[in-house]
Amino acid sequence: MKVSRRDFIATTAIGSASLALDLHGQNKPDASAAPPGNPPKKPLIICAHNGYDYLDRGYALLTGGGDTLDAVMQVITGPEDDPNDDSVGLGGLPNEDGVVELDACCMHGPTCMAGSVAAVREIKNVSLLSKAVMEHTGHVMLVGEGAQRFGFAMGFPRETLLTERSRKVWLLWKETMSNQDWWGPGLASPNYKLPDENPNHSSLREERIQQMEELAGKLGIEPGFRAAAVQRVLHPPYGTIHCSAINEKGEMSGATTTSGLAWKLAGRAGDSPIIGAGCYTDQDVGSAGATGNGEENIKVCGAHTIVENMRRGMSPQEAGMDALKRIVRNLNGDMRKMQYVDMSYYILRKDGAYAGVCMWSGPPEHLRRFAVHDGTKRYETAVALFQGKSIGWPPMPDRQHLAPEQKK
Ligand code: GLY
Repeated sequence: MKVSRRDFIATTAIGSASLALDLHGQNKPDASAAPPGNPPKKPLIICAHNGYDYLDRGYALLTGGGDTLDAVMQVITGPEDDPNDDSVGLGGLPNEDGVVELDACCMHGPTCMAGSVAAVREIKNVSLLSKAVMEHTGHVMLVGEGAQRFGFAMGFPRETLLTERSRKVWLLWKETMSNQDWWGPGLASPNYKLPDENPNHSSLREERIQQMEELAGKLGIEPGFRAAAVQRVLHPPYGTIHCSAINEKGEMSGATTTSGLAWKLAGRAGDSPIIGAGCYTDQDVGSAGATGNGEENIKVCGAHTIVENMRRGMSPQEAGMDALKRIVRNLNGDMRKMQYVDMSYYILRKDGAYAGVCMWSGPPEHLRRFAVHDGTKRYETAVALFQGKSIGWPPMPDRQHLAPEQKK
């Protein structure tokens, strides 16, 4: 079909006009259910518990009229710079080769811009690197060596990210558990076999933990950190930080950064660098982000699902609970598998309503918390789908608990 220039201009103009109508929400499933439109009376920041110490500087930036994404960066670069936070940035727990690989992404509500980096080595502040991708390239996501080269070109310093403490915990894993690695079928696979129940499980487990704590001592891990090191080996953490912020104008941003799953295969990217899974911000609706099992969260596009749920009228808590239930459904509601899956969501709506939700409540003395600042900085307890404690994946096969003479 031949289209004249005049026809083309006319068609384009009509197309743009219809698009403009759609952009204002005419096609929303239920416009009456759309989230409230008024911005909050005061700025608000929500983040994972490990951002608590850095909330003040983010909040000060917001009340000083700073940009919401800059405020988010003020919060999440704190744990990235802290060598003792082994879930992100400097000191993050490494992959199975002993190499720290970091993931991050960010989204700026007012401009609808996004940036992301995955599997980046030797650059500590990958949250800022994801922002640099957003601001200085026409791309959204850079990975691996290319992301690293871009970072060095942008002036990010080359740094050794593996601290002595994280190296020793990795050695403890190598010596005791590296035969239980991430190779083979995952939890969702029909070929995955749950370990057999063993009536002697608890006593064997205690014995195993004691042996590992002794080895931790021999490896030079300080006494006060040995029990924690053993837990990181037995139940590799997914530690991460997400932060979302809103100002008095209702502008929102969000970002997530992580060293990802401990002892992962080299090149593994979790949910944190995936726009829509680890983080999602829509200026019309809200912002959400995740910490926890990246593999399961990617499959439900957690952050995007939550924002879309709020667009359809759900409260932040309802929206987060729905995403958690989708994860449960993906594993056919099998609680023997669910005990290995943990997930937390941090949710902010454009009117300042917020929620922290999680799959498992944690033990009564250590309930899952998130951090908030709205002029008052505080922890709040997350609303849990299940009461109790997840035990981290992969499960230790019972033979792993057995002393050498019992294994024969
Ligand atoms: N949620 C962090 C990760 O899975 O890497």
